[in-house]
Amino acid sequence: MSRIEILYLSQPDIIALGLSMAEIIGLVEAALREHGEGRVEMPPKPGIHPRPETFIHAMPAYLPRLGAAGLKWIGCFPENPQRGLEQTTGVLVMNDPETGIPLAIMDAAWITAMRTAAVTAIGARHLARPDSRVLGIVGAGVQGHTNLVALAEVLPELRQVKVTDRRPEAVTSYLAEMRPRFSRLTIEPVGSVEEAVKGSDVIVTATMFYLTSPLVRAAWFAPGAFAAPLEADYAWEPAAVKLADKFVTDDAEQTRYFAAHGCFPEGMPPLHAQLGEVVCGKKPGRERADERTMSICLGMALEDVAVGRRLYDLARERGAGTRLPLT
Ligand SMILES: NC(=O)c1ccc[n+]([C@@H]2O[C@H](COP(=O)([O-])OP(=O)(O)OC[C@H]3O[C@@H](n4cnc5c(N)ncnc54)[C@H](O)[C@@H]3O)[C@@H](O)[C@H]2O)c1
Repeated sequence: MSRIEILYLSQPDIIALGLSMAEIIGLVEAALREHGEGRVEMPPKPGIHPRPETFIHAMPAYLPRLGAAGLKWIGCFPENPQRGLEQTTGVLVMNDPETGIPLAIMDAAWITAMRTAAVTAIGARHLARPDSRVLGIVGAGVQGHTNLVALAEVLPELRQVKVTDRRPEAVTSYLAEMRPRFSRLTIEPVGSVEEAVKGSDVIVTATMFYLTSPLVRAAWFAPGAFAAPLEADYAWEPAAVKLADKFVTDDAEQTRYFAAHGCFPEGMPPLHAQLGEVVCGKKPGRERADERTMSICLGMALEDVAVGRRLYDLARERGAGTRLPLT
């Protein structure tokens, strides 16, 4: 029998491959199109919960047309930042769809950070007003950073960013990092969630699951705005979620599962579409300038394996990473 080697890619290995946000948006959009067309195998993600209000999810997916098969094993421990650790950590295993052999094992935190923001941007491309100028960000952590990078790719008229966080030091480092990267944007700290949300054309909340009380009031969600809550509906009061004229999610079955396990305390709002159905043209995106639109995407394994496949190919081309004997 041939010996099997596995390619190990650390987070620095992955970052050195230089995959841009624009490329990741393209890869994720192709994967969402496959989902919209029903050409994916992706069972609902099971999880374990080693501590209260934490999870580690197993997320397998197979995209036949992209030749991408794999499994992400990803943990979310909201109190980790207080220990000086990332909230979200994990690994992605990529398999050969022909033989089933594991080809690679790689860091999944960077992929998660980037692909989640790409999903927001794809949502914005279809559901935000194309002339959106003002972005409000609540939560200046990992997703607060990558969501700005992704949204700047798809919103050419974006001019102003308002950012808030319960930790002032997070805002300070956010400004230091993001202002030099985006000279076309005015990036301003604001002192409250209300100021970040009110008057914003696009609103991203990127805080934490299991918030004990919502942060965003219905009265602040203006006609014409697009909202992308990343912590399911925890940060938005039920009346605000209900205000959405078009409510979109990534995967209806998965979102219903979350609704049955504590999300959407007043029931899931009527679903306009899964994002992939909008991407592949089966359902419309925004149709009027005054619509309120909301995309709550809980994250799908197919996004990870689409990006993982590209990273694996790039690493092979360039001889990057570490080859480890498996058998
Ligand atoms: N849907 C998905 O696919 C997906 C993927 C990754 C992360 N997420 C979710 O996105 C959220 C953010 O993740 P992250 O990796 O950026 O976390 P992070 O810890 O890097 O950042 C979260 C930030 O929110 C701030 N925050 C927390 N509570 C707040 C509050 N009440 N008011 C203001 N700021 C507050 C924290 O201080 C922190 O700076 C989490 O809920 C995570 O579960 C979703």
